[in-house]
Amino acid sequence: MSVGIPIGRIWPVPPAQPLDDATLTALYGRADRPHLRVNFVSSPDGAVSVDGYSAGLSGEPDKRVFGLLRMLCDGLVVAAGTLRHEGYRAVRLTERHRAWRREHGLPEYPTLVVVSGSLALDPAQAALADAPVRPLVLTHAGATPPPGLTEVADLVRCGTDRVDLVAGLAELRRRGLDQLLCEGGPHLFGALTAADLVDELCLTVAPLLAGGGPGRISAGPPSPPRQLPLRHALVAEDGTLLLRYARA
Ligand SMILES: NC(=O)c1ccc[n+]([C@@H]2O[C@H](COP(=O)([O-])OP(=O)(O)OC[C@H]3O[C@@H](n4cnc5c(N)ncnc54)[C@H](OP(=O)(O)O)[C@@H]3O)[C@@H](O)[C@H]2O)c1
Repeated sequence: MSVGIPIGRIWPVPPAQPLDDATLTALYGRADRPHLRVNFVSSPDGAVSVDGYSAGLSGEPDKRVFGLLRMLCDGLVVAAGTLRHEGYRAVRLTERHRAWRREHGLPEYPTLVVVSGSLALDPAQAALADAPVRPLVLTHAGATPPPGLTEVADLVRCGTDRVDLVAGLAELRRRGLDQLLCEGGPHLFGALTAADLVDELCLTVAPLLAGGGPGRISAGPPSPPRQLPLRHALVAEDGTLLLRYARA
């Protein structure tokens, strides 16, 4: 019988040592060039949510990496749909994560960037109203903000009647937000993939079957497949898989 691409086992072979935060931080790291990292949690049967929310998929190992990825980024990009649905609160980092950022010459908090075509956003939502850094809202020239939005956030208009993500990301980088972390949701991820803007996907696979109903981590019109090599596969003792795919 022929042996093709070798298959190795990462688990249940136990790692020599559990990975500490410093090792995890080094494994994920900051890129040495402008970089868009996307972070999602899914079930092995492909669900993006349980009972409509990601919380049902996210255990302690996912939360730990989720926090580290926020610590590592300059800009935290989230679609308006996810911001509204998940009731995003103001971005907060632990004192340890803020200290790491200070030591690495970064502002204490990343800048929240909300992507919205409609600007149907609530200026009183804590993610905007209580943000430690004034958020940006990536939108297009034709969108009209609701009363109060421009008091709590700056609008960045890219595109005439829809958000031009290529121009939008370029503008974020011009503003110094080189390392971008996108926390979804699926429609934004689909659009970023279609525009070939995704440099990295960090995917947590939770050890549960979600069953039929929920959508996938990517949504929207079809687009060409993009090669994205696997860079690491970590496994937590509860069976959570932490996968990192990235372009060269
Ligand atoms: N498992 C996970 O890791 C994870 C992560 C995130 C979200 N989720 C789940 O995903 C679900 C929400 O998904 P969703 O379908 O609402 O998708 P979404 O991508 O979160 O939100 C779609 C909305 O975001 C804005 N948007 C997204 N892409 C855009 C683009 N290219 N240009 C302009 N605006 C864009 C639009 O807002 P406007 O309507 O304001 O124009 C659009 O209506 C929830 O169930 C949430 O729990 C799961």
